[in-house]
Amino acid sequence: MRILIVGSGAREHALAWQLSRFGHQLHAAPGNPGIERVARCHDARLDDVAGLVALARALAVDLVVVGPEAPLALGVVDALDAAGIAAFGPTRTAARLESSKVFAKEFMARHGIPSAPFRVAGSVEDALAAAHAFGWPCVLKADGLAAGKGVVVARGEFEARAFAGACLRERRFGDAGARLVVEEFLPGEEASLFFLSDGERVARFEPARDYKRLLDGDLGPNTGGMGALAPAPLDAGLCARIEAEVARPTIAGMAQEGAPFRGLLYVGLMLGPAGARVLEYNVRFGDPETQVLMPLVAGDLGEHFAECARGALRSPLEFTDGFSAGVVLATPGYPEAPRAGGVLAGLERWPSPEEEDANATWCFHAGTRRDDDRLVASGGRVLTIVARRPTLGEARRAAYEGLRSIALVGGQARGDIAALAQGAVGG
Ligand code: AMP
Ligand code: GLY
Repeated sequence: MRILIVGSGAREHALAWQLSRFGHQLHAAPGNPGIERVARCHDARLDDVAGLVALARALAVDLVVVGPEAPLALGVVDALDAAGIAAFGPTRTAARLESSKVFAKEFMARHGIPSAPFRVAGSVEDALAAAHAFGWPCVLKADGLAAGKGVVVARGEFEARAFAGACLRERRFGDAGARLVVEEFLPGEEASLFFLSDGERVARFEPARDYKRLLDGDLGPNTGGMGALAPAPLDAGLCARIEAEVARPTIAGMAQEGAPFRGLLYVGLMLGPAGARVLEYNVRFGDPETQVLMPLVAGDLGEHFAECARGALRSPLEFTDGFSAGVVLATPGYPEAPRAGGVLAGLERWPSPEEEDANATWCFHAGTRRDDDRLVASGGRVLTIVARRPTLGEARRAAYEGLRSIALVGGQARGDIAALAQGAVGG
């Protein structure tokens, strides 16, 4: 197939690498210097739906695979559908599972999908009244997309008032913060599961775990994700139960409401004393979870993506044995004020592993760009080093060994990715 991948992160590099193993002819919009090794990259803006459709048409692609949420929420899949171009990803209406937390919570309530009790608030007073009713700590969430900054776990009224005021009065997130979800705090361990869907059937990925905080020991600010491992130590029975009690009812509910969900459903969960409850949906692959999952996928994902786009998902996903661990390198100042421009040393020599190699290590690019014949960091998360090995301990050591071969002045990485993971989550 001729496939256009939309996005420019390490997630899209990992997807492009997976698809390249099966001989697909790949294009990327806009891609990055790592993706360039396996795909032809084209100038593009992720918020320019018409431009993306025009590019897909000019390239006469068989399939478009959309990585990030922003173009999905803008309706890129609707526009591709209208142009007769097959796309892997949900329509704008189905993408509301991620782009509106109010929609997602009300949807879960309508379909009996387990989640925290909640109220919707349009004023600071309503938000505080709801928070007091639930008790402290209490969780406040901006309704719309807020680049991972739209949630606060408030320990008391002071924090709740500050966040509610910033959203509702100061409009810190614009219209995305015009309404808040206020919900009960759930204790427990977090986990996430990914499912492919064609609008009716689902196929489950191995569980992955990501590390959202900047610093070792889960300290410091939230980030897009500083590392990941897969498979996460989640009991297979529990994964099957989450598929039956959360993923299938979600897909069935969306179809019943006239907005069938085709694409990747990402379910973020809290595993607590009351069982698994949904914290959030995302409507696209996770980053950096995708970087550790792609090396474990045995078959051709391109076929599965095309089947989802056609509404005809046929077979379950298959995975290789072994584990992968991924460590993210970020620029100085990330996440508050990332500084770009640092020269990256060691990257050009990075090998491009063969698929047959069971013990491979990958370097998936994100914020890198060419500057003459050098590679420089363009800000934020720069790359993910991923190693696949027979055991998690070996994968972890190999990923860190890979990271040590790369130099970026002031670069930040966690030192505890995939450490002590055994037994950390459930069975
Ligand atoms: P969300 O974007 O809704 O997943 O929220 C971001 C993060 O906030 C989650 O990954 C959790 O760490 C935390 N969080 C969200 N909702 C809750 C909740 N009801 N109880 C406890 N923690 C939560
Ligand atoms: N790793 C979390 C996310 O992609 O949203």
